[in-house]
Amino acid sequence: MKRIKIADVLENPKIGETITVKGWVKANRANRFIQINDGSTINNIQAVVEFENFDEALLKRVTTASAIGVTGKLVESQGSGQAVEIAVESIEVIGDANPDEVQKTVMQPKRHSMEFLREQAHLRFRTNTFGAVFRIRHSVAFAIHKYFNDRRFYYLHTPILTGSDAEGAGEMFQVSTLDHKNPPLNDDGSIDYSQDFFGKQVNLTVSGQLEAELGALALGQVYTFGPTFRAENSNTSRHLAEFWMIEPEVAFNDLKDNMDLTEDFLKYITNYILTNCADDLAFLNEREAKEQLSKPQNERNELTLIERMEFVRDNEFKRLTYTEAIEVLKRSKPYKKKKFKFEVEWGVDLHSEHERYLVEKEFKCPVILTDYPAEIKSFYMRQNDDGKTVAAMDVLFPGIGEIVGGSQREERMDILKKKCADFNIPEEEIWWYLDTRRFGSVPHAGFGLGFERMVMFVTGMSNIRDVIPFPRTPQNAEF
Ligand code: 4AD
Ligand code: MG
Repeated sequence: MKRIKIADVLENPKIGETITVKGWVKANRANRFIQINDGSTINNIQAVVEFENFDEALLKRVTTASAIGVTGKLVESQGSGQAVEIAVESIEVIGDANPDEVQKTVMQPKRHSMEFLREQAHLRFRTNTFGAVFRIRHSVAFAIHKYFNDRRFYYLHTPILTGSDAEGAGEMFQVSTLDHKNPPLNDDGSIDYSQDFFGKQVNLTVSGQLEAELGALALGQVYTFGPTFRAENSNTSRHLAEFWMIEPEVAFNDLKDNMDLTEDFLKYITNYILTNCADDLAFLNEREAKEQLSKPQNERNELTLIERMEFVRDNEFKRLTYTEAIEVLKRSKPYKKKKFKFEVEWGVDLHSEHERYLVEKEFKCPVILTDYPAEIKSFYMRQNDDGKTVAAMDVLFPGIGEIVGGSQREERMDILKKKCADFNIPEEEIWWYLDTRRFGSVPHAGFGLGFERMVMFVTGMSNIRDVIPFPRTPQNAEF
């Protein structure tokens, strides 16, 4: 008999129909009430066994985490807690799970720490929390592709192996096939990369933006969505060494258009999850609310997860310049009481304590900061008329901090070449990028959304390691 998914059964139950479901046992009460989950939904289906009719040895194997298939009639449930259940006619154990071993895993029905869960690469997917997180992660990705496809953006695959350092951050993972112990050397003792696989130094991409600009200045509007690698040695709850980034790039857009696009995009994704992931979201909302109870009153969130999402969807983001933000910070209580760890002065990069103050205390809504000092931003950002600032924008979210970074790009060749010189970027390395300013250069703008930071926002997970299936962080590349 053809297997059907539990999500489909529960969404559209056909009472009286004989069905087959296959999945993993969540619980087996009294060898009679078996909760089965197949991953298609957070909800289990209950299978009821008249155990007198079945082989006892077989039923003993139906333990938590084992895989089974059941066939039976879908009936209205006698018990509370579910509307329908399966009156089992036949049952098959597809994969056993040793109960003694299961006891030592996260399958044991009690609360587990996130650290313990992270160690169990496989079984954490089976928990309600991670099932919900990864179904939502999928839906966020789907919503992103739908948003752009519906608006005639083209999905452009930019390279993962690249010779360019788009962000000038210098935090790159090098890729080489040279013999580490005995690399070929130049006369001056430096490594001779002309003998390496690509004949030059190559790294894993830190951003697909520069390549996306080439696409945008022909296809009009494109976006990238791919893995991104940064060797920054920051062990925080918001940084990964391997993360995913979405980078739209639009010809003829200026900074204002760029802000409008970002805001609309983030609201669209948030609304998509609110509308399409109700069951998983309700579970995560409840989970967070329970977790909050164990915190002191003044550290609790003012809004629930769902309320925060509705707030972002329904309210305008606050827009202000970096210069205005510095003034706000200088007028703030923590500044006057010397509570900020890092300096607040025009020209310094803002730290997360400053960003959080602006979002969570001062404005209490998402904030778009614009027009940063040129020195603290990348070479490709468009120089403003004041000569000191560039047309950059960062979007700051409550509980997350920076979720988006973007800018209008410098489309004027003479200024761009000067910036390359200022930033020590040799023109002969970046000729292919400069070409875009040679043949019909136009104003254009784009931004990068950190995919995992967005997933954090719509799941309420507080550590970025818990929204990516296999996290890579300093000292950690297990599995
Ligand atoms: O601000 P960033 O560095 O911007 C760029 O890379 C531009 N090229 C984007 C563009 O204009 N096309 O990174 C963009 C976003 C950040 O706002 C953050 O959300 C995320 O990427 N991000 C990280 N997420 C997880 N772990 C890390 N180590 C991250 N670094 C950046
Ligand atoms: Mg940034």
